[in-house]
Amino acid sequence: MARPPGACNKMSVVTVQTTPFAGQKPGTSGLRKKVKVFQQPHYTENFVQAIFTAMPGGSDGKTIVVGGDGRYYSPEVVQIILRLAAGNGIKHVVVGQHGVLSTPAVSALIRSLKTDGGILLTASHNPGGPENDFGIKFNTANGGPAPEDVTDKIYKVTEDITCYKQVELPDLDIAKLGEFTHGPLKVTIVDSVSNYIELLKTIFDFERIKKWLHETSPKPTVLFDALNGVTGPYGRAIFVEELGLPESSIQNATPLPDFGGLHPDPNLTYAHTLVERVERENILFGAASDGDGDRNMIYGKGAFVTPSDSVAIIADWAEKAIPYFKGGVKGLARSMPTSGAIDLVAKAKGLEVFEVPTGWKFFGNLMDAGRLSICGEESFGTGSDHIREKDGVWAVVAWLAILAAANEEKPGTTINDVLLAHYNVYGRSFFSRYDYEEVESAGAEALVANLREKFAQPDFAGQSFKATTSDTSFTVKEAADFAYTDPVDGSVSTKQGLYIKFTDGSRIIFRLSGTGSSGATVRLYVEKYSKNAAEYGEDAQVGLKPLIEVALSLSKLQDYIKRDKPTVIT
Ligand code: G6P
Ligand code: ZN
Repeated sequence: MARPPGACNKMSVVTVQTTPFAGQKPGTSGLRKKVKVFQQPHYTENFVQAIFTAMPGGSDGKTIVVGGDGRYYSPEVVQIILRLAAGNGIKHVVVGQHGVLSTPAVSALIRSLKTDGGILLTASHNPGGPENDFGIKFNTANGGPAPEDVTDKIYKVTEDITCYKQVELPDLDIAKLGEFTHGPLKVTIVDSVSNYIELLKTIFDFERIKKWLHETSPKPTVLFDALNGVTGPYGRAIFVEELGLPESSIQNATPLPDFGGLHPDPNLTYAHTLVERVERENILFGAASDGDGDRNMIYGKGAFVTPSDSVAIIADWAEKAIPYFKGGVKGLARSMPTSGAIDLVAKAKGLEVFEVPTGWKFFGNLMDAGRLSICGEESFGTGSDHIREKDGVWAVVAWLAILAAANEEKPGTTINDVLLAHYNVYGRSFFSRYDYEEVESAGAEALVANLREKFAQPDFAGQSFKATTSDTSFTVKEAADFAYTDPVDGSVSTKQGLYIKFTDGSRIIFRLSGTGSSGATVRLYVEKYSKNAAEYGEDAQVGLKPLIEVALSLSKLQDYIKRDKPTVIT
C-alpha cells in the first residue's frame, strides 16, 4: 500500500523471513492440527499469509470477516490475522466480538455484507484446549468453504514460503463493539448473534412455532444442548428470548475455550447427557449442535432422527412448514455415504437430486447455480441455500417448524410420529456408521488399498457374501471408488470413498476421514432399504447386523486396523 514518506515506523509493513512447515494442506474443512502445532513460531503466520496470497483476486483493498467458535488460542490468532491483514493490504476486517462467530454466522455475514471472504477459527467438533485441536479455514465471497483450486493454491504457497508481511500492531481490544482504526485497517467488531438471528427471522415463521409451544396443553418441552460450544448464545437468543422458553430449555450454553472438556460433537455418544435428560424427563424435543454450530442432532423421546432421515423429512415438509421455501424447492442433494431417503422425496416431488462427495463445499456450486435448495450429510450436517455452510441451529428450528405444522394437522404429534408417518409414505432407509478413530495410518491405508484391488477384480461383481451369524447373504452388483463430476464447472473429484452396491439395493461404504488431526479414522457406512411396515419401528442395529458382518468380513477391517470395536456408532 502506498504510504506517505516517513510514515510512522509502527505502521510500516515488515517482511518477516520464514521457512515452510510440512503438512499445511487444508483438508475438507481447512487446516486442523493440535494447538501446540499452531503455537510454533511462524506456523500460524505462514498459513495466514498463504490464505492472503491465494485468495481469489489477491488481498489488496479487500474486506474479510474473522470469527470462530472461541476455542483455546482463538484470541491470539485473531491478533495475528489483524497484523497480517494490515501487512497484506486488506482494507476492512469484520470481527465477531471476542472473536466469536458460529460457522453459519460467518457465512451469513460474508453474504449479507458482501465481503470478499472470511477466515474461520475452528476445528469444528474436535475437542479444544491446550492439548487439543485448533483450525483455520478460508471461505470465499459466496460464504462457502474455499473450493479445491483455492485450497490447492494455499497449500502450494505454504510449501515455498520464504517470508510473510505484517504490520507490528498492538493487540486490539476485541471485546468492544464498534468501528475502529487499527493501523491501516478499518476493524468493525460486531455482535456475534444479531445478524444471524435476523436472517433466521426471514426464513421461519417464529409466531407459528410460538403458537404451538405456548398454546398447547400440556406445553411441549424443549431441550437444546450447545455442548459448551459456540451455539450457546444463539440458542439463548432463539429459544429463550425469541420463543419465550424457560432457561432450563438450554444446557451447556456458555461457550468455553476447552468446551468444558466435552467432545463437542452432537451424536448419541458425545451428546449422551441430552439423550438421558430427554428420556428421563419425557422431553418432547431434544437437539444439539457442535463446537462451531454447523452440525446438529435431533432427538425426541425414544426417537433418534438419523441425519439422513432428517434432511429427507425437512425436504418433504419444507413448503408446508418453512416460509423461505414457499416459492418452491429448487433441488435436493446429499453426500454419497448419506442414505437415499432424500432421493425418494425428490422423486415424489419431481425434483432434481444430486449425489456429491463428502464435504459441504460440493453443494455450493449447485446452490450458486440455482439448482439446489436443501441438502444434508450423514455426518450430522443439514442446511439450505440461505447460506453456504451447513447450519445446526437452522436445522433445529426447521424441526420445530415441522412439529408446529404437524401439530396443526394432528395435535399431539411427536418426533417419533413424524418419523413413522414419513416411513409409511416412503419406506425406511436403515442407516448406520461405524467410526474407528485414531487408528494407525499404515493399517488404514492398507485396508483401502486391499479393497481397491478387490473391486478391480473382474469377477468381484456377482460374488455373494454370507453374514457370519445368520444365513442372510448379499450379492455384489457394483463396486467402485466414488468419483464426481461437478455438473456446474465440470471439475472432477476422484477417490471419494469405496462403495459396494448389492443387488437388493443395500450399500456398504469405506472411507478415510478427512477431518482428524492425528492417525487415521476409518468410517464404515451401511444402508439397507425396507418397504415392510412391520420393520419400521425396528432398531437400526438389529436390521443392519447381517450387512455389517459382511462388511467386516469381506474387508478384513479388524485385522488391518487392529480394532475389535468401533469408537463411535451412529
Ligand atoms: C466436515 C465437513 C462435512 C463433512 C465432514 C466429513 O464436517 O464440513 O461437510 O461431511 O467434515 O468428515 P470426515 O471426518 O468424515 O471426513
Ligand atoms: Zn462443525
